[in-house]
Amino acid sequence: MKKVIFSGIQPSGDLTLGNYIGALKQFGNFQDEYDCYYCIVDEHAITVPQDRLKLRKQIRSLAALYLAVGLDPEKATLFIQSEVPAHAQAAWILQCNVYIGELERMTQFKDKSAGKAGVSAGLLTYPPLMAADILLYQTDLIPVGDDQKQHIELTRDLAERFNKKHNEIFKVPDIFVPKQGARVMSLQEPTKKMSKSDENVKSAIYLLDPPNTIRKKIKSAVTDSSGVVQYDKENKPGISNLLSIYSALTGEAIAVIEEKYVNKGYGDFKADLAEIVVQELEPIQERYENFIQSDELDDILDAGAEKARFIANKTLKKMENAVGLGRKRR
Ligand code: TYM
Repeated sequence: MKKVIFSGIQPSGDLTLGNYIGALKQFGNFQDEYDCYYCIVDEHAITVPQDRLKLRKQIRSLAALYLAVGLDPEKATLFIQSEVPAHAQAAWILQCNVYIGELERMTQFKDKSAGKAGVSAGLLTYPPLMAADILLYQTDLIPVGDDQKQHIELTRDLAERFNKKHNEIFKVPDIFVPKQGARVMSLQEPTKKMSKSDENVKSAIYLLDPPNTIRKKIKSAVTDSSGVVQYDKENKPGISNLLSIYSALTGEAIAVIEEKYVNKGYGDFKADLAEIVVQELEPIQERYENFIQSDELDDILDAGAEKARFIANKTLKKMENAVGLGRKRR
């Protein structure tokens, strides 16, 4: 039997180059060898306020992007989280097995709730929903960016805790983070993560940015005054981030890239990097335009949800039996 991959992306804004390098770009590499489930996690997105029409649009847009980066619906199951009710049902059972202290310790919760009034309970109970996503499919491996490590650790703890208490129901999954680009940083504040929810649009390259916008954003990316193309995360976070992006997209080692730019300035390096990013994203953008206009997209998502429901319900049944929910017919 093939091993299982699960990953998800929130449709909570326009996807960035960080989402692409940290997650999306990896997804396609697994589809021949693994049984892959790639989810549009819309229930996660509503843990913070969303405009309903915009959210609907972003869900479709993310589905089209999954296809545009090369995911093949014959090989990978693409679906929308809210179309598979087992996720919310399993999340409830897991919520009853996680401690509030564990949830309050999550850095994402701390970051997103700090100084805010009216923080939703969903923001706190987000990790057991994420654990449900993963565990329902008996997942072996989860390709994600570096920022999800803590959530995956908690997922593993929860799986082990549940297994110990009630027979071995879940597979305990492993994380997969890419060697280069697991944490792409903001172009404007390179000590901060590049994020789809950053208000400064110059801080991120969006996957659907036109080529000239990409060139301008890379040109104005914050670096330092030394002008030496060299990786030094502590002292030169800006250029180090750009070097990581270069390396992640070309597959060239950082040392090889540094060598190429000895005696050249940041200008040359940035101009080349801009063309590398444009060349990577242009074909994706073309395919995106085709998919977003097509009915095929809906057929793919319908079929994906049906398959996901079938698999997820099997694990959900086991969970319900294990904790004693419902009844058995006499
Ligand atoms: P989300 O939607 O914030 O991000 C989607 C994926 O992109 C990665 N990522 C990055 N990688 C590198 N550099 C960055 N700057 C960067 N920003 C984001 C994320 O690590 C992620 O892999 N909780 C998840 C969604 C989720 C999920 C799941 C993921 C829900 N259920 C089950 C895996 C398995 C999230 O908010 O990702």
